[in-house]
Amino acid sequence: MISEASAPGKIILFGEHFVVYGVKAILASVDKRITVTSRKTNEKKIMIDSLFGNQSYSSDVDIKSIKPEIKPIAYLAKTTINKFDWTGGIQIKIDSQLPSGVGLGSSSSSCVASAASVSGLFEEPSKENILNLAIDAERTIFPQTSGADCTVCTYGGIIEYQKEKGYKKLDVKPDFELVILNSDTIHSTDKMVNQVREFKNTNPEMFLKLREKETNLIEEAKQALRNNDSSNLGRIMRENQSYLEEIGVSNQNLQNIIEFANSKTFGSKLTGAGGGGCIISITNKNDLKTVTESFERTKYKYWTAKLDFDGLIVG
Ligand code: PMV
Repeated sequence: MISEASAPGKIILFGEHFVVYGVKAILASVDKRITVTSRKTNEKKIMIDSLFGNQSYSSDVDIKSIKPEIKPIAYLAKTTINKFDWTGGIQIKIDSQLPSGVGLGSSSSSCVASAASVSGLFEEPSKENILNLAIDAERTIFPQTSGADCTVCTYGGIIEYQKEKGYKKLDVKPDFELVILNSDTIHSTDKMVNQVREFKNTNPEMFLKLREKETNLIEEAKQALRNNDSSNLGRIMRENQSYLEEIGVSNQNLQNIIEFANSKTFGSKLTGAGGGGCIISITNKNDLKTVTESFERTKYKYWTAKLDFDGLIVG
């Protein structure tokens, strides 16, 4: 039996980092996916075939010994084998359309698709159970994750996410055109989150003020999304970027790209943990061609992304 599932990548429209401290974030899933195919084997092995190569472990492997790139996948395979007392092993194949380590949710998307594919070998799991397993898996490499990324990769569309309260789907279909540009610098989410914690501990009052500003900005963003007001959303993105700069997760390279993108679009910001990774820009249909032509002249890879409204697809 083969069990297949796919999950989309994601962008954080507003609220990264502040979401770790209880502020709402707004996320959206995008039309590049990770597809995972798994099957049971008689051999007591966990085999993972991904862009990080072909790896094979005994099914009672000590997860701590596994390299971070595939640790969450091995974790969820081992957990599932134990949960169902399976006497054999599992073979997992991961195909990705997403670049990794640049804030587009490659890790969350692969955790969600793998959790669905692997547990689908034994039962018909609910989305909630898949999400919980995916978040547990992601915590093996990123203990501080807010869970926002895995949530949007599971449910798709545009969501509002708050750490203690969970997620709410925003019933909006904005008609902005979204362009994602990759700065080609890989970042470490854990490192950036730790850096923000240090910033918060050294500048408690400043952080509190920014946290409050971000809270208000998120409400403005929700209103602009409801009004389908792309120009206002662009302004809010610029504002959000300035808070991210203040907490130290942007850098000169990102700022140069953003400044250039801002001169052509409604607004731009980094997306995800920062320190590298991708930036997002929004524009309208009429200007899209001019925007992409000017991005063409930079040395960076970019693509016009569509929002995804499917989320996790099983089978
Ligand atoms: O891993 P990334 O680049 O998508 O960033 C995660 C977003 C953070 O807000 C920085 C952390 C989190 O867990 O929400």
